[in-house]
Amino acid sequence: MAKKLTVINGPNLNLLGEREPGIYGTLTLKELTDGLKRRFPEVEFTFIQSNHEGSLVDAIHQALQANADGIILNAAAYTHTSVALRDAVSAVKIPTVEVHLSNVHAREDFRHRSLIAPVCKGVIAGFGPKSYDLAVMAFQDDVNG
Ligand code: DQA
Repeated sequence: MAKKLTVINGPNLNLLGEREPGIYGTLTLKELTDGLKRRFPEVEFTFIQSNHEGSLVDAIHQALQANADGIILNAAAYTHTSVALRDAVSAVKIPTVEVHLSNVHAREDFRHRSLIAPVCKGVIAGFGPKSYDLAVMAFQDDVNG
């Protein structure tokens, strides 16, 4: 059965492509999301990006209304600060994979802590845009052998 996945991107990720390309690469957010649609045609994606914490909470609630099978969440800087986003993930009870383009554990200390990770199914970080592909694969049905 086709999976419905909501992909939520937080603050400053709208600037991908021009924002610190040495860390985040040169792909724009549109190129990233178009790539996912192309590589996973069987998945019904909803893509949401916002720079505002409350809008990101709303996006998580929308995933519930849309009966999403999963959420892929790059909360960006809010990863490290937001009790509201953590509570939203807990509230909707939709399996959520936290993703990061960069390896947050190889960066500044303040990026090592995620308030959201403990309520997620898993975390994928450090593989650039491929982090999102790996997160989609985490929702694919298990293969045998
Ligand atoms: C990020 C890592 C965060 O620490 C940072 O604030 C971001 C992007 C990433 O995808 O690597 O904005 O979530």
